[in-house]
Amino acid sequence: MAILRKKIGLWIPEKGKHPAGKMENPVRSAFLQRLKKENRWELFEDLDFTRAVIKSGSIYIDDFCLSDLDLYFWYAKGAMLSYNYNILKNLARKVTVINDPPAYYRGLDKLSSNMILHQHGIAAPEFAFISARNVDQSYKLLEQWGTLLLKPRQGSFGIGIVKINDQETLRDVIGHLGKEADKGFYLERYISNDIKKWCGMTVVNNQILFGYRKRPTKIADWRVLDTNKEGGDVDYVEPTTEQRDLALKAAQAFQLDITGVDIIMAADGGYYIVDVHTLPGFFPELMKQSGVDGVEELIGCIKNKI
Ligand SMILES: Nc1ncnc2c1ncn2[C@@H]1O[C@H](COP(=O)(O)OP(=O)(O)O)[C@@H](O)[C@H]1O
Ligand SMILES: [Mg+2]
Repeated sequence: MAILRKKIGLWIPEKGKHPAGKMENPVRSAFLQRLKKENRWELFEDLDFTRAVIKSGSIYIDDFCLSDLDLYFWYAKGAMLSYNYNILKNLARKVTVINDPPAYYRGLDKLSSNMILHQHGIAAPEFAFISARNVDQSYKLLEQWGTLLLKPRQGSFGIGIVKINDQETLRDVIGHLGKEADKGFYLERYISNDIKKWCGMTVVNNQILFGYRKRPTKIADWRVLDTNKEGGDVDYVEPTTEQRDLALKAAQAFQLDITGVDIIMAADGGYYIVDVHTLPGFFPELMKQSGVDGVEELIGCIKNKI
């Protein structure tokens, strides 16, 4: 009797080759090879969600019906553009999607992300969401916190973060600039920390693949900053038990199969998660150093769900 093979759709453009590429090629090609070894899975590659169209109850790329898949795995930039997100979210009504679109969104938005960390009791900086109408309340926070950071809610690479120490600047950036936009501002307490103790981690299938730190080329004064948005420039770091624990708790709280965290160490020695990543790096050299097989963990994510 013929076995009914599960249908798996893929969209994993190659980093450096395709503008939406995110997964480092040695890992990407090893993952694709490994997927092909599973006879019980039928693979459909290059299913670019930006090309998909919703027609009545189903989703298509040309004549291919994505809604007939059992699972759709994507690892690419651009998921948060409104059109693309609508495609992914509606696909997930019927098909298992990795990464799960709502979980991905929760992780990407710094407001919802820090809300989740706090609600799960995971150490993260104090934060506030405030509109220009309530600018007075930000003065109180400044008094309490000493220094605060104004962060773009969907920022990355450390770009666009403003460090504020005085009320005049707060009044300008929130009170004046914010009035017309009627948008809220995401503020975070600045935690004085030793940048040499900064640690990032990539977590897949509830396993830490490796820890890393950024090289001085990606550090500007008090923060990790990558103005060219290149990524990389990392060195292997062995995370402490406490750091590992924070990363695993975050992965569970967000229900993200693939995630990353940035952790800082405050002057009193306490660790805080300052950022949750939804498309973390798969640095092949670091995986060699940690000895954790990230490709097997990616396969594990799929096995758990079909
Ligand atoms: N609350 C904070 N206190 C001190 N430093 C911080 C804080 N938040 C972020 N940083 C520093 O700024 C860097 C960039 O902030 P992050 O929130 O990770 O933004 P992005 O998503 O742009 O990477 C962090 O890696 C860290 O070095
Ligand atoms: Mg970051």
